[in-house]
Amino acid sequence: MIPISEPWIDHEEIDLVMDCLKSGWISSQGKYIEEFETAFSGFCGTRFGVATSNGTTALHLALLTLGIGPGDEVIVPALSFIASANVVLYTGAKPVFADVDERTWTLDPSKLRPLITNRTKAIIPVHLYGHPADMGPIMKLAEENQLWVIEDAAEAHGAEYKGEKVGSLGHMGCFSFYGNKIISTGEGGMIVTNNPEWVEKARILRDHGMSKKIKYWHPVVGYNFRMTNIQAAIGLGQMTKLGRLIEKKREIADRYTQGLKKNRGLILSAEETWAKSVYWLYSIILKPEIEKNRDDLITFLAQAQVESRPVFYPIPDLPPYHGFGTFPAASRISKGGISLPSGFNLTSSEQNQVIELIQSYLDR
Ligand SMILES: Cc1ncc(COP(=O)(O)O)c(C=O)c1O
Repeated sequence: MIPISEPWIDHEEIDLVMDCLKSGWISSQGKYIEEFETAFSGFCGTRFGVATSNGTTALHLALLTLGIGPGDEVIVPALSFIASANVVLYTGAKPVFADVDERTWTLDPSKLRPLITNRTKAIIPVHLYGHPADMGPIMKLAEENQLWVIEDAAEAHGAEYKGEKVGSLGHMGCFSFYGNKIISTGEGGMIVTNNPEWVEKARILRDHGMSKKIKYWHPVVGYNFRMTNIQAAIGLGQMTKLGRLIEKKREIADRYTQGLKKNRGLILSAEETWAKSVYWLYSIILKPEIEKNRDDLITFLAQAQVESRPVFYPIPDLPPYHGFGTFPAASRISKGGISLPSGFNLTSSEQNQVIELIQSYLDR
């Protein structure tokens, strides 16, 4: 089977994990956590990093750190992985959905203004499938309305908006290091930010709300959102190849675009002039005339030993979010969208095979 994605782990990670295991520091104390926080936040162009147990806890912790809770509203794109909205519910606040842009699949800034009320506290733009959201107008609107912006950069390590790395554009940036992400720590996540007060608060909340000065003194109710030293050791190994991993994703995207661009039935992953996408999973849309064939194409590819996946459902189509509205662009992308194999070990001949299979299916 040609997999949709797979991590790239070799001797750098293995050596660091061995060292970590031998040191005995296998939980959430140990030198690798701070080293990974420093390395990854530095890569993003931010001053601080707070490593977490996964990307969902990074987002949840960011909202908690900003004091978001019951009575508040947070604007979230209608098309994303469900965690982007669930974290808002976890805090007791209400997610308010906005439709996405049909080219970038990310939050459409022109849809935001009418959604802002006196309860709105934050916006969570998601850099979906590795393409950055249009952060300029989002930040402008946020400033005018005194809103916090938490970037969900779970799928977009190293993506750039006008030359600046995602994660450094909003007030906080949140990443996931799940096994299929650009870099992975197995499970893992991180908040990056330039604000030292938020970092201090997030570190306390991450560790059961325990005072940093008095052991077992808990002035607030916190959580266990900590990353382990073992995960951080893997992350540090991954940092040595992050640049190469991004280049590989962009090469894969280029080959798919060249191979599929003549096909009139398809809309391909776009890259805006102001963007550097990291093409987390290269995804295509079957045009509305043929979108009904989407699941059949996935089955056809699977029969040829090629793994592909449907694009996410619009979050408001999912049962916990029924009644939160309908969103035409999110629906169109979702109905016809397929993510193609984009793993780091994908060879050019495997990729040509995927391209030929798609062509042959659409020419039938
Ligand atoms: C856009 C988005 N946000 C949040 C998450 C949550 O990250 P994690 O699975 O590490 O909790 C993911 C991924 O899995 C994601 O794709």
